[in-house]
Amino acid sequence: MPPRFYITTPVYYVNDVPHLGHAYCTIAADALSRFHRAIGDDTRMLTGTDEHGLKVEQAAAERGLRPIELADRVVERFRSTWSHLDIANDDFIRTTEPRHKEVVQELWRRMDASGDVYKGTYEGWYCVSCEAYYPEGELVEGRLCPTHKSPATWLSEPTYFFRLSRYQDALLEHIERHPTFVQPEGYRNEVVSFLKSGLRDLSASRTTFQWGIPVPGDEGYVIYVWIDALTNYMAALGPVGGDLYRRYWPATCHLIGKDILKFHAVYWPCMLLSAGLPLPETIFTHGWWTVRGEKISKSMPATRVDPNRLADDIGVDALRYYLLREVPLGLDGDFAYENLIGRYNAELAHDLGNLVSRALTVAGKFTGGTVPPARPELAGAGRHAELAAIARQVVAEAAGHLRAYSPSRALETIWRLVREANRYINDTQPWALARDPARRDELGQAVRTSLEAIACAARMLAPIMPSTGREIARLVGAGDGLAATWPSADRFGRELADGASVAESRILFPRIDEERQAALLDRWIPADARSASGPPQPPAVAAPATAPAARGKPAARDKSSNDKASARQAAAPASEVTFDEFGRLDLRVAQVVEAGAVPGASKLLRLVLDVGEPEPRQVVAGIAEAYRPEQLVGRKVIFLANLAPATIRGVTSQGMILAAGAERVLGLSAVDGDVPIGTKVR
Ligand code: MSP
Repeated sequence: MPPRFYITTPVYYVNDVPHLGHAYCTIAADALSRFHRAIGDDTRMLTGTDEHGLKVEQAAAERGLRPIELADRVVERFRSTWSHLDIANDDFIRTTEPRHKEVVQELWRRMDASGDVYKGTYEGWYCVSCEAYYPEGELVEGRLCPTHKSPATWLSEPTYFFRLSRYQDALLEHIERHPTFVQPEGYRNEVVSFLKSGLRDLSASRTTFQWGIPVPGDEGYVIYVWIDALTNYMAALGPVGGDLYRRYWPATCHLIGKDILKFHAVYWPCMLLSAGLPLPETIFTHGWWTVRGEKISKSMPATRVDPNRLADDIGVDALRYYLLREVPLGLDGDFAYENLIGRYNAELAHDLGNLVSRALTVAGKFTGGTVPPARPELAGAGRHAELAAIARQVVAEAAGHLRAYSPSRALETIWRLVREANRYINDTQPWALARDPARRDELGQAVRTSLEAIACAARMLAPIMPSTGREIARLVGAGDGLAATWPSADRFGRELADGASVAESRILFPRIDEERQAALLDRWIPADARSASGPPQPPAVAAPATAPAARGKPAARDKSSNDKASARQAAAPASEVTFDEFGRLDLRVAQVVEAGAVPGASKLLRLVLDVGEPEPRQVVAGIAEAYRPEQLVGRKVIFLANLAPATIRGVTSQGMILAAGAERVLGLSAVDGDVPIGTKVR
């Protein structure tokens, strides 16, 4: 029996149409499930929609619709978006389906049979957007919901309670014994401290509206929408104990956003413990995307990035690549169109696209458009063997990263092969070998290894970029089947069929030139966001006296030319430095402990950094227009510790933090993983 891999996305509320945040989670789950399918696991991926509850009822009423009419419309938007983005989910569940209702009621009965359901009265502050009660102490600024900052409503109603408190210790013990239950670790700690602070029983039903699943045996009550929604993961497998249930439950991974951690890592496992059913293996929490520094919100049209439109303009695979490459799963990220274009040009058009077209060109020119036979006596030595060794390593490491829910690191690793293979073609110089008839075999081997390298890269990329993977496999004369399986490390060099015909060279990712960049940015960035409210153009990096602003460069410039400048910057080559010169830089990991304004300087922030020394350092950073102080505290950044101190606007700056962007800051340098403060950066 192959190992099993069952992954789920949250069921999305139908009061909203799919946006970038939804697309991100679904693409990540799709890529991970495609990977597991490719390594032969018995894989299942589920997504769907959350259609009950007050929030959906209210959204429908606002549009003069019945809730199911709204759901019927919006669900089509989700389905079509997922098909557009090449999501290969095995099932799609709607919480209004009878199969779902049956399992929700069965779970309720099981919890009831365990003595965990009792009647009482609930009073408290309720946020409709969260569909959750909040203790008074958690509300902010008067009585606003801490997540949505919208007014909470006081509700008092008879309710059924679920005895959550009874499972506090059992769940803590489970988390203790299963270190990978909640990932990444920071979120695990959050759950542990929440549990340790004590659980109160949960109001598990509602009486003030009807749009939900009735409590079995007491139709005046509907089941609390989170109890309803969470059950989808099991309900999609059919009745408890049925074939699919036995095959796939417990789920391997619920992939979720950080705002719904408590529901998944506390309520859901307690419900399952009460029902006597096994708990999911992992709840993996991803971070949130902001769009050009702003939270995605209905009141900010500029943040409502439509993934369909982006995919139309830049390609489905390019969008999938960018989202999974840009930010490690688990961390928050900022979406900037300029970065999307920057990565597209540098990594897809330049690195990958060039590699593929060069490998096809040499096959077309020098081996008659076919895969030449491998020459074992040559393949085992020199550059051929070096590239093969790298490919073997990359295949194993990239698989390890994907197993560990880290697609960004997998892509980083795959790029090692892409770049090495480009270097390999430079070094072996097939065009020079072709001039010497005595080196025909060597030429054949060089072409063969180049084609094997692109086939190998294509297979590793296929989970993340499915049509690119298939396309490259086809171009090197292999069928779709090759792209659907993960390469085996020890078969590098022997995967392609001798004599298979190789297609003519082609450009997979045409470079986005400046004119097209400008046109795309005009199209993507709504006019209102291009004016004053759009993200600004602060001086470059966190620079002391050398920052453009400090040198008196004009700060306000035409937006589109600025955008172009930033994107161009991403691909511009830098002049060379020697290793020794680089070694003189004292780069370290630092953590922002304090951030605030610099009086009289709207573009600057004063940061206090823990850099692993007895005393913190103070720096002045030109990032005020890209980051608000409260976004920075706690962030780990890369810090240049031996920059000569300078005084800027009367504040001493003792070093500099690194950021991306020339004319304007596009993002701070980030540090992956749990790296201790003060660690050297090389
Ligand atoms: N219906 C509930 C989930 C029930 S699961 C049993 C829900 N739906 S939602 O549509 O509001 O959100 C679904 C997912 O989208 C959540 O995981 C949430 O974190 C994610 N995102 C919403 N905005 C996001 C970003 N800006 N960035 C990344 N993901 C975000 O909650």
